Amino acid sequence: MTKGKVDALLGIVFGDEGKGKVVDYFTPRYDVVARFAGGPNAGHTIIFDGKKFVLRSIPSGIFDEGKINIIGNGCVIAPDLFMAEAHELEAAGYELTERLHISRRAHLILPTHRVLDRAYEAAKGKNKVGTTGKGIGPTYSDKAQRVGLRVGDILNNFEEKYRALKARHEQILRDLHFTDYDLTEEEENWLKGIEYMRKFHLTDTEFEINRALAEGKNVLAEGAQGSLLDIDHGTYPYVSSSSTTSGGVCTGLGIAPNTIGHIFGIFKAYSTRVGGGPFPVELFDETGDTLRHIGNEYGAVTGRNRRCGWLDLVALKYAIMINGVTDLVMMKGDVLDGFDTIKVCTAYTKDGVTTTDMPYDTAGWEPVYEDVPGWHTPLTAVREEKDFPKAFADYIAYIEQATGTPIRIVSVGPDREATIIRA
Ligand code: GDP
Ligand code: IMO
Ligand code: MG
Repeated sequence: MTKGKVDALLGIVFGDEGKGKVVDYFTPRYDVVARFAGGPNAGHTIIFDGKKFVLRSIPSGIFDEGKINIIGNGCVIAPDLFMAEAHELEAAGYELTERLHISRRAHLILPTHRVLDRAYEAAKGKNKVGTTGKGIGPTYSDKAQRVGLRVGDILNNFEEKYRALKARHEQILRDLHFTDYDLTEEEENWLKGIEYMRKFHLTDTEFEINRALAEGKNVLAEGAQGSLLDIDHGTYPYVSSSSTTSGGVCTGLGIAPNTIGHIFGIFKAYSTRVGGGPFPVELFDETGDTLRHIGNEYGAVTGRNRRCGWLDLVALKYAIMINGVTDLVMMKGDVLDGFDTIKVCTAYTKDGVTTTDMPYDTAGWEPVYEDVPGWHTPLTAVREEKDFPKAFADYIAYIEQATGTPIRIVSVGPDREATIIRA
């Protein structure tokens, strides 16, 4: 939490690691919280004082009323979903328009981007990515094609630009013979969302962040998705379409690499994945069902079952390398309460070859496991490290030793309070 620096909190596996909870917990130590990638494909859960919120585009620092929250240029934003999310917070008594600032360079998700998302998925058949259906891929594609609409366009001849991009999308949909959509109601609400967004500071957030840093303030960059869903470093093509790794913090906020301080890499004490794509540690047996049930592993955005398995050190070490993780944050240790033995994947094997380096394509690789002892003392009520059961303390030490990276924070329950900082 160095003054004048940007610290990042990055999901380093397949998303849903608990980023929302930890960003909310960290916020009192920072001046600014900023999202740098993704959009409403994210679902970040925050629980405190008996209340639960699931944020999609709005940063998880929003509950600390003195803090500025920024949606950075690397993000994509759906005006209608943003409006619904903001209304929910406003109804709960949070003022937003003064302290939630949106980059003019962030790209807009159009209703037709969501239709295209469905159309492209349908065309892929059994090879579909299993996207969240929020139009993420088509919006980032338009950004790369240099035809996208940006938040700044809302302030400048918007109707004409909107009609042109919508017509382009409709032509693609005709070419794909995809007719299963009706935009009337959705478009009306979306245009209301555009009007609603005008109430906010639509600004050049890169200047705002860099000025804050020059004044000695500190910034927390909130990751979305996870490193294995990164467009470059993830399990392509079963990935999202943004840069979710530490490089994305720079490009997605307009800050220089030498402004980065700590890089917190967050992971669960076991593994999950939602959507399609290879997942070597996936358990199809009762243990997988138990992890899903106890861990409540159902998607925050789509409600889909999350696929579950044991901790994967091959994936973890790769993500630590790619991101330059300085500190680890381990979530959901409590979900492993009650197992006699816990397995940890230490290598992958295929066709007689064994590797500890993440392969280019993880399809067909089988996990190699080591057994470690489990514990039977429930962790959820534990608030101090000295009260950890020995086997849990050993599990932490085992992961630190294997990854060469300290675990600074341990979470043992969904509530803000169930968080332990280690010396
Ligand atoms: P995010 O996308 O990384 O913010 O994570 P999600 O909110 O999608 O998923 C994390 C889920 O785990 C949420 O339902 C949280 O309430 C819950 N959670 C977070 N930390 C813990 C923990 O330490 N133990 C348990 N049991 N649940 C947790
Ligand atoms: P948070 O921020 C988990 C997955 C989808 C799909 C793939 C591509 O809550 O951790 P997309 O809609 O982005 O084109 O889908 O990525 N995915 C996530 N999985 N957590 C997320 O976000 C995700 N965002 C996208 O399930 O497999
Ligand atoms: Mg999530």
